[in-house]
Amino acid sequence: MVRHSMMAAGIVFAAFASLAAQGQVEKAPEEYQKLMRQIGPTAQGLAKKTDHAEIAKDAAALRTLFTQVEAFWKQRKTEDAIKFAGAAQTAATEIETAAKAGNDAGIAAARKTLTGQCQACHTAHRDKMADGSWGIK
Ligand code: HEC
Repeated sequence: MVRHSMMAAGIVFAAFASLAAQGQVEKAPEEYQKLMRQIGPTAQGLAKKTDHAEIAKDAAALRTLFTQVEAFWKQRKTEDAIKFAGAAQTAATEIETAAKAGNDAGIAAARKTLTGQCQACHTAHRDKMADGSWGIK
């Protein structure tokens, strides 16, 4: 009898361990969610703007925000996310440089690179939680 329940406990534990290994989705820390909630509208706003000075300003803000995103993933030692956050900073810098030069084609190209980082990181590390909000994995 005792032996039987110990075995059952072992099976339950193994199931938890394998879920953890798969990277269960969890609630993101509030500071992290705040960063994403600033990044979202800033990136969307930038896409609609035509004034080069304003685009440059938004791009600089995005670069700073992604510096903080990178620091977060460095703490978690998540290599691919660190890379996406780094590439997002580079793309933001390219947008800023192109905007200051009045180079619309350059802005468009760098924006595409930036959006690619959003998508890549979201595919790998963002998932819906049971309550429908976004979680981190
Ligand atoms: C390095 C990884 C990474 C990159 C790059 C990234 N995101 Fe996120 N993002 C996440 C994760 C993880 C979540 C889920 C946790 C959360 O909601 O904060 C998220 C959530 C979001 C949310 C939902 C926030 C909420 O909870 O309401 C928005 C909006 C968002 N990201 C926009 C963007 C945009 C736009 C970009 C690119 C310009 C981007 N993100 C780039 C990882 C990333």
